[in-house]
Amino acid sequence: MLRVIRNATIHDVPRISEIINSHAEFGKMLFKSFAQLFEALRDFAVYVDDATGEVVGCVGVSIIWADLTEVRSLAVDNRYRGRGIGSQLVKWCIEEARRLGIRKLMSLTYEQRFFEKLGFEVVPKESLPLKVWTDCVKCPKNLNCDEIAMVLTLADIPEPHIPLATPTPRGVSIPVLRWEED
Ligand SMILES: CC(C)(COP(=O)(O)OP(=O)(O)OC[C@H]1O[C@@H](n2cnc3c(N)ncnc32)[C@H](O)[C@@H]1OP(=O)(O)O)[C@@H](O)C(=O)NCCC(=O)NCCS
Repeated sequence: MLRVIRNATIHDVPRISEIINSHAEFGKMLFKSFAQLFEALRDFAVYVDDATGEVVGCVGVSIIWADLTEVRSLAVDNRYRGRGIGSQLVKWCIEEARRLGIRKLMSLTYEQRFFEKLGFEVVPKESLPLKVWTDCVKCPKNLNCDEIAMVLTLADIPEPHIPLATPTPRGVSIPVLRWEED
């Protein structure tokens, strides 16, 4: 029997690329090359249509720090949107964060309502650690980023006894890591 959500394998990469880039074309998310997808593939899960075996959605969850993961590259094939697939993929990320013992998930998104329904809350971008912005260097929007930062805290997971990442320091422009001149 097909498992509806499963970890991605290299065989899924062309299809993941197709789904993500179909939305990236319309500015909804960042383009991903095969090289980027191979590199991050361990972070990825795919949603499989159990009738056809076709991959129709994907998501990645990457570890930012001991207390923070990021939901990335969430995308559902346009033909399958509005059927609960996106929500199930985010729930897979939540389970993955739990398995890892990480109490917060974040997303940079335009889909505020969608993430609110899953318990995420809008936070100031400055409250997130500097490491979050590394992808922005590659983003065409760069300094004009209009994405919304959202966080979900899994309150039942204890805070780690590991030094936490500090918020983005003052004087660093967001989202690009460029020091502002005095
Ligand atoms: C955003 C996206 C992943 C949602 O996936 P989906 O499978 O269509 O969403 P779901 O069917 O799970 O929707 C869950 C709930 O969110 C709501 N929702 C989904 N998209 C929404 C939107 N754009 N605005 C408001 N509500 C939305 C749904 O109506 C549904 O509500 P309900 O539970 O009351 O019925 C999908 O539309 C997509 O791939 N968009 C393009 C790429 C993108 O923007 N990715 C996000 C990058 S962070």
